[in-house]
Amino acid sequence: MSEFAELSFGGKTYQIPVVTGTENEKALDISKLRAQSGLITLDYGFKNTGSTSSAITFLDGEKGILRYRGYSIEELAENSNFLEVAYLIIYGELPTKQEFDQFVKDITMHTMVHEEVKSILDGFPSKAHPMGVLSSLIGALTAFYPEALDPSRSADEVNMSIIRILAKMPTIAAWTYKNEIGHPVNYPDNSLDYCSNFLKMMFAVPSDKYETDPVVSDALNKLLILHADHEQNCSTSTVRVVGSSHSSLYSSVSAGISALWGPLHGGANQAVIEMLEGIKADGGDTQKWMDKAKDKNDPFRLMGFGHRVYKNFDPRAKIIKKAADNVLNKLGVHDPVLEIAKGLEEVALKDDYFVERKLYPNVDFYSGIIYRALGIPTQMFTVMFAMGRLPGWIAQWKEMRENNEPIGRPRQVYVGKNHRPYVNIENR
Ligand code: SDX
Repeated sequence: MSEFAELSFGGKTYQIPVVTGTENEKALDISKLRAQSGLITLDYGFKNTGSTSSAITFLDGEKGILRYRGYSIEELAENSNFLEVAYLIIYGELPTKQEFDQFVKDITMHTMVHEEVKSILDGFPSKAHPMGVLSSLIGALTAFYPEALDPSRSADEVNMSIIRILAKMPTIAAWTYKNEIGHPVNYPDNSLDYCSNFLKMMFAVPSDKYETDPVVSDALNKLLILHADHEQNCSTSTVRVVGSSHSSLYSSVSAGISALWGPLHGGANQAVIEMLEGIKADGGDTQKWMDKAKDKNDPFRLMGFGHRVYKNFDPRAKIIKKAADNVLNKLGVHDPVLEIAKGLEEVALKDDYFVERKLYPNVDFYSGIIYRALGIPTQMFTVMFAMGRLPGWIAQWKEMRENNEPIGRPRQVYVGKNHRPYVNIENR
């Protein structure tokens, strides 16, 4: 049964269709609002605005629910692996054994990166932040695969772009780290699984034989699963809008990497560790820093806390917090900032300011503590987020293109000067 909302304005009443999703979420379809009434809507930061309908990820912020293609994040984190989750998110179903083996084989055969990419990499100073290098090198893939620029490509050719970027992301990500520390790059070892191959490319040095610790690669697998998609967040919306102009997958993902870099988004995982280190250096007085976070005159924010959608615990944060204890114990790592993080969480969850605003730890609050225990340097934390989010960006770009969505071009309310005549410079 069709549902409608009524809008009364200027002496007229308009019927606005109501759309209902498969989880009974409801939305006003305002696609004809301006034509009918001359009105547009205004919603800074799109806090109340849906940009699309999607079948990929479902979030319930009030209940702290996250599902990829209907499967709960808790079950996937516990039972699956990153490439299987990537397949699920991109193609919509869990793969059969044959489908999965072929997917892994295809990816394994494309982990190498064109040798001339190294020439571009060598152009970056070692002080370059890895996220800037990653965004540039992913965009540069268009130079090596110009066929990816053709928006009318067949599904098979689009799928080749998907396999290539999934396969080359770990290689390029590891190379951004080697560039930062001034070490020679490592090439992929196709005898290893996706995470172990990445870790070896990150940490192997010519003089030593590198063996991946299964505790480390398992923890990385879980972290990448937890970051794999998150509906219409800032970077995914960026990928969709850039892709809506029929820009290539590579350039759309490059734009998504840049959006993720911001400290209010994926860059928060780096900012959290820097914040915790600052609190530790300042003597570990968590209440002092909580008071600063609540002080409107103080620009300090409790990084890793709060979320646009989750007004309950971020389910990923709960899983990561548990994994942090587990991984640090297994690796025999004692990280004092973990205790500071737990102390901050404990104080915040009892503090009216945070309780009233429903500010809980988000995915970034504990993830950096695990990355650090795995030996991953702070400046690489957001690169890890990008590696995890890649399947989501791909799936959302693919869904937008397959649904033939129009180019994203929002309206505005103009608040500038009214019409005025030009005045010659002598008379100003
Ligand atoms: C990610 O969207 C996604 O799904 C993102 C993500 C994904 O997987 O893609 O989940 C990943 O980006 C997680 C968020 C990482 N960012 C941070 O941890 C940075 C710190 N958090 C915030 O800056 C903030 O909470 C946001 C950006 C996450 C959400 O901001 P909103 O929804 O725009 O909310 P807001 O800034 O309007 O805050 C509402 C109130 C304000 O106070 P009042 O004006 O009502 O008095 O809460 C306060 C804010 O001042 N507030 C905080 C706070 N976060 C919000 N106060 C102190 N510390 C904080 N962290």
